[in-house]
Amino acid sequence: MHVAIIMDGNGRWAKERGLPRIEGHRKGAEKAEKVVEWAADLGVNYISLYAFSTENWKRPWDEVRFLFNLFVSFVKRKVQKMKDKGVRIKIMGRREGLPEEVLEVWDWVEKETKNGERMTVVIALNYGGRAEILDAVNKILKDGIEKVDEESFRKYLYIPELPDPDLVIRTSGEMRISNFLLWQIAYSELVFIKKYWPDFEKEDLIYALEEFSKRQRRFGGI
Ligand code: IPE
Ligand code: IPE
Ligand code: MG
Repeated sequence: MHVAIIMDGNGRWAKERGLPRIEGHRKGAEKAEKVVEWAADLGVNYISLYAFSTENWKRPWDEVRFLFNLFVSFVKRKVQKMKDKGVRIKIMGRREGLPEEVLEVWDWVEKETKNGERMTVVIALNYGGRAEILDAVNKILKDGIEKVDEESFRKYLYIPELPDPDLVIRTSGEMRISNFLLWQIAYSELVFIKKYWPDFEKEDLIYALEEFSKRQRRFGGI
């Protein structure tokens, strides 16, 4: 079971409390850690978390820099715990443009946690669905390949072995995909939660999974 989450609403959560946006991101990162634990308890073995999109560079540099620093410090702080829990961490996105320190932590955390077998946590960082597809196409052209099918195309995605999400959850009440996993969500079920990400609770995850289990997936059949 692969659950992909668009963790949205950190800024509005903070604003409602008269706090700077970055406080929302801080709370949001803590929430992400909790959600990983809840998901593991509930038998989810893949979880993808949208942390920074290719469009998020449009934000003020202070916020962008804070998000990268948060990524670095958070990953460093949590890696031992993740290892102990059998969690494998993978980072997914475009490396180009990311600060050196972020790239170092990217490689380091993947290496450190590569033996985790209980669960895979994918952190989407500088990720865009269109960028991923274009990066795949450009690699294909570079390899001199003239024709692909779905199976061979998939091998060029950032994490080829990642199964397609069964369920996509977006918080904050927005009902859009915002360039997340475009290729992979072709037949994913979508659940929208009207809560800001820092307010997301275990009951919301359970609700989303229950909602998912009620849906009849037809994949184009009858
Ligand atoms: C989601 O929260 C986290 C990131 C995009 C990094 P936002 O920062 O988008 O919060 P809102 O949508 O402005 O409330
Ligand atoms: C999507 O949220 C990206 C992440 C959660 C990292 P955004 O807040 O960037 O999306 P839009 O701008 O509302 O579409
Ligand atoms: Mg947002």
